[in-house]
Amino acid sequence: AAPKPLRLEPEEDEIDIAEGKTKVTVFFGTQTGTAEGFAKALAEEMKARYDKTVVKVVDMDDYAADDDQYEEKLKKEAVAFFIVATYGDGEPTDNAARFYKWFTEENERGTWLQQLTYGVFGLGNRQYEHFNKIGIVLDEELNKQGAKRVVPVGLGDDDQSIEDDFTAWKEVLWPELDKILRDEGDENSAATPYTAAIPEYRVVIHDAGTTPSEDKPLYLANGNASYDIHHPCRVNVAVRKELHKPESDRSCIHLEFDISGTGIKYETGDHVGVYAENCDDTVEEVGRLLGHPLDLIFSIHAEGDDGTSLGGSLPPPFPGPCSLRTALACYADLLTPPRKVALAALAAHATEPSEAEKLKFLSAPEGKDEYSSWIVASQRSLLEVIAEFPSAKPPLGVFFAVVAPRLQPRYYSISSSPRLVPNRVHVTCALVYGSTPTGRLHKGVCSTWMKNSIPSEESQDCSQAPIFIRTSNFKLPSDPSIPVIMVGPGTGLAPFRGFLQERLVLRQEGVQLGPAVLFFGCRNRRMDFIYKDELNNFVEQGAMTEMIVAFSREGPQKEYVQHKMMEKAAYIWSLISQGGYLYVCGDAKGMARDVHRTLHTIVQEQDNVDSSKAESVVKKLQMDGRYLRDVW
Ligand code: 2AM
Repeated sequence: AAPKPLRLEPEEDEIDIAEGKTKVTVFFGTQTGTAEGFAKALAEEMKARYDKTVVKVVDMDDYAADDDQYEEKLKKEAVAFFIVATYGDGEPTDNAARFYKWFTEENERGTWLQQLTYGVFGLGNRQYEHFNKIGIVLDEELNKQGAKRVVPVGLGDDDQSIEDDFTAWKEVLWPELDKILRDEGDENSAATPYTAAIPEYRVVIHDAGTTPSEDKPLYLANGNASYDIHHPCRVNVAVRKELHKPESDRSCIHLEFDISGTGIKYETGDHVGVYAENCDDTVEEVGRLLGHPLDLIFSIHAEGDDGTSLGGSLPPPFPGPCSLRTALACYADLLTPPRKVALAALAAHATEPSEAEKLKFLSAPEGKDEYSSWIVASQRSLLEVIAEFPSAKPPLGVFFAVVAPRLQPRYYSISSSPRLVPNRVHVTCALVYGSTPTGRLHKGVCSTWMKNSIPSEESQDCSQAPIFIRTSNFKLPSDPSIPVIMVGPGTGLAPFRGFLQERLVLRQEGVQLGPAVLFFGCRNRRMDFIYKDELNNFVEQGAMTEMIVAFSREGPQKEYVQHKMMEKAAYIWSLISQGGYLYVCGDAKGMARDVHRTLHTIVQEQDNVDSSKAESVVKKLQMDGRYLRDVW
């Protein structure tokens, strides 16, 4: 055998830097893939513009194995970009959380990053209270820790066209970056406009007789039970129940996943990620519009015939061979309004010139207003758009690469406690259902799937879904004698049902429990007072001290949870003063914001302090982990 080399091969970076190239790192913090796509597109464009750069795209979670390594590695960076999304209650994405915490928590590093030039682009939504908080904080911290900002922080707003915001940010970036990265006599003059190539998978069509690798995709992790977003576990639906009364014109589903024998573990207050499927009507319509039979068996590949990579901006392919039906049902987001890249790809494949022109216009910067009204404000789904442009039939390799984004898992606050039901994960899910401005009936993908699912208690041929657990910090105090106040109208009740199940078990074990008060809200007791009997039982059994319900549509005036909180202000304040915890779960845009203001008022009035002191009291509660929010 050949002797082993004494020295390991130099790392790729070392060779490049030896050749006088500048290293640029593009970090992404992504939840649904948008930030990742932007990071890859930015990297591609930089490679095309600057010959003498080596550009790396890095998932923030993969950057370093532990916190100490962050410091070591960051010190070696010369130019770095951070493309980071903000989620829920002003939180980083899961894959950015560890880095964000390390980088922004109090430290004595001083201005240690003076060698670093950086830029930040944030992805957020203006409808939320903490618009782009992560991008803004990261940008400020980088600057504070000595790094040089090359471009003002970009604040992408997904409520409009976030792609236009990204383009506008890049336009400010390029002239600045030219000063650093452009060589005299660089071939790729920055004056030449750059147009990104439309990425495309290589598609292999298999014989009609081929058995799909799995008729329906199975994602079981390799027996080690460490399931995550990339390795979910396929489980049965055991129970499905409608929680609303027949008088209600809405629907709310109670679903139980059977996790026995899977090794899945969760804690009260965690979230479950669920991969649902598009419904048959949607799949069939898209198959027809694309002009392929749904039983076509194919696979997609990110490498060309010769094994070379087809460009860095493709998302990883889904497992194949599979039928087009499975691919459209499980992997394609068909009901979200299309992004501009999707429209540009459709334009490139429209054979009817007028269609190509309109699609091109919609995807171009000039078509900003049209895109805003015709796509965004009209909530026009991808399906509606392709129906509107029948000559645009992109090949499957393009369709799955850029036209239809990957169908994302949906997250739910688990509404059970493993202390009571160790083999089940319960979900409480409101059906997303309503007409859009174009008159289309929009049905939420996952809630519709849940509503139509078949539980094993009804049929052996029951529904299954790939799921995984996402841990959360929304947890009961470890000392059960500490008072808890729970505020959760509608499906915001979900995690509190888990809390109360846990307290019920503790109670039955003879543990001494502190007071627990629940503020619940619904429209009308005859329609949507979900889990009413169970909640009453929690009171009877001593798992909960008091339940206070606001019925918003029973009397002449709306009554919401925050109104009930005001009525109980003195009691709430006394519980908080005893060291109590306050939990809020539910809608972030309206309810959680209003409840937050109410809390502020309660503190101000009860503690008899001015507004700014009240604010610092609320902040302190938050910092101490005694005011927790699980909002969406
Ligand atoms: P509504 O639909 O009558 O407006 C669960 O969805 C409950 O939360 C409903 O009773 C709903 O009332 C109520 N709700 C709606 N907006 C709210 C807000 N901003 N604050 C508190 N509760 C709200």
